[in-house]
Amino acid sequence: MALPTEAQVKEKLTAVIDPELRKNIVELGMVRSIEIKPDGKVDVVVSLTTPGCPIRSHFQQAVTTQASQLDGVTGVQVGFDVLSDQEKSTLQQALGRGKLPAGALAQVANVICIASGKGGVGKSTMTANLAAALQAQGHSAGALDCDVYGYSIPRMLGVGGKPDVNGERKIVPPESATGVKTMSIGYFVEQNSAVVWRGPMLHKAIQQFLEDVAWGELDYLLLDLPPGTGDIAMTLAQLLPQAKVAIVTTPQPAAQSVARRSAEMANKVDLEVMGIIENMSGFTTPDGETFSIFGEGGGGLLADELGVPLLGAVPLSEDLREHADRGTPLVTERPDSPAAEAIAGIAGRIVASVPRELPMVQESPPTAPQPPKMGANARELPVVQ
Ligand SMILES: Nc1ncnc2c1ncn2[C@@H]1O[C@H](COP(=O)(O)OP(=O)(O)OP(=O)(O)O)[C@@H](O)[C@H]1O
Ligand SMILES: [Mg+2]
Repeated sequence: MALPTEAQVKEKLTAVIDPELRKNIVELGMVRSIEIKPDGKVDVVVSLTTPGCPIRSHFQQAVTTQASQLDGVTGVQVGFDVLSDQEKSTLQQALGRGKLPAGALAQVANVICIASGKGGVGKSTMTANLAAALQAQGHSAGALDCDVYGYSIPRMLGVGGKPDVNGERKIVPPESATGVKTMSIGYFVEQNSAVVWRGPMLHKAIQQFLEDVAWGELDYLLLDLPPGTGDIAMTLAQLLPQAKVAIVTTPQPAAQSVARRSAEMANKVDLEVMGIIENMSGFTTPDGETFSIFGEGGGGLLADELGVPLLGAVPLSEDLREHADRGTPLVTERPDSPAAEAIAGIAGRIVASVPRELPMVQESPPTAPQPPKMGANARELPVVQ
C-alpha cells in the first residue's frame, strides 16, 4: 500500500487543537518533525510550551488518532520536546498575548479567578469551598488569596502557621485538612496588622505568590480576588493570560450593573469570563419555605447579558457562614446540605468547561486506535472521527 506523504500527515494534524491556546498545533508551529518509515510507521514530534505540560497525553492521543486515519499507516509514535525561548516568544507574538505560564506555575493546568464588582458577596467563601469541593471530587486544587488587605483564605480553610521554604528556595504552600494547597499574605503578617500597599508592591506580592510558591502539579488553582476591579486584574492578566474569570453576584437585579463592571474589566485585559456564580440566593427554612432576601434571578440575567453560563446558585445558609468562620468548609463537612450541593454542582461545571489532563496513554497502539474516551471535556477537544 502506498505510504502517506508528510503533507498528508500535517493536514491531518490540523485537527489537533491545543485546548489552552485554542488553535491547531500545525498553525502554532508545535509540530517539530514528521517521519514516515518504509513500513508505514509514523513518528511525530510535538513541541510543548513547558516540559510539565499537563495536556501532553491529550496531544499523544489526538495525534495518534488523526495520523492513524491515513491509508498505509501501521503505527504512530508521538515524541515530545520543548519550544526554545525564541520559539515561545514567536508563539506569544503570534497569539498577541502576554507571558506564557512559567516557573512554579508550569504544572498548574487551570487558573480561575473568583471576582466580583463589589465586596462581601461571597468571593472568599466560594473560593475556599470550591477548592475544597474540587479536591473532594478527586482533582488537585489550590486557593491563592489575592486580597492582601482583607485576606480570608487561611481562616476559611482552617490553615495556619508560617510556610516552610524548600531546598529550591520556593515557599511551600500550607495544605488544608483535605489537601487544598493555600497561599496568603496572612501567613506573613502579624494578625490584625494593617497592610498598606500600593500598586507596585501589590503587583510584586502577587507575582511572588505565583512564581515563588511550589504549587507543584495542580488541576485547578483558584484565585480569591479583592472586591472591585483594578490593579490586581491588570497584574493577573499580565502574568496569567490564560486565566479564566468566574464572577460572583447576588440575586438582586440591581447588583448586575456592579457585577457587569468586573466583566468589562476582564474583557479589557483580555481574560475570558467563564461564567457567573449567584450567591446568597433564596433562603429556605427547615419547613421548606423559601425567602428571596436578596431578590431573584440576577445571576441568570447577568449570564444571559454576557452570553456566558450561569455556573450555579448558592442559597443563603447560616451553616455555610459558620463553617467558613470555623475553617471547616461546608462542602467537606456537610456535603448533603443544599449550599454544599450547589457548590459541588458549580465545581462540576467548572471541570466540565475547562480542559484538564486526560488519562495517560500508555503507548501508541500499533493498529487503528479506538476513539479517545471523552468525558466532560469533550467540547474542548478536537473533533476526531
Ligand atoms: N451563601 C451564603 N450564606 C450565608 N452567608 C454567606 C454566604 N456566602 C457568604 N456568606 C458570608 O458573607 C460574608 C462575606 O462573604 P465573603 O467574605 O466570602 O465575601 P467576599 O466577597 O470575599 O468579601 P470581600 O469583598 O470583603 O473580600 C461572610 O461572613 C460569609 O461567611
Ligand atoms: Mg474576600
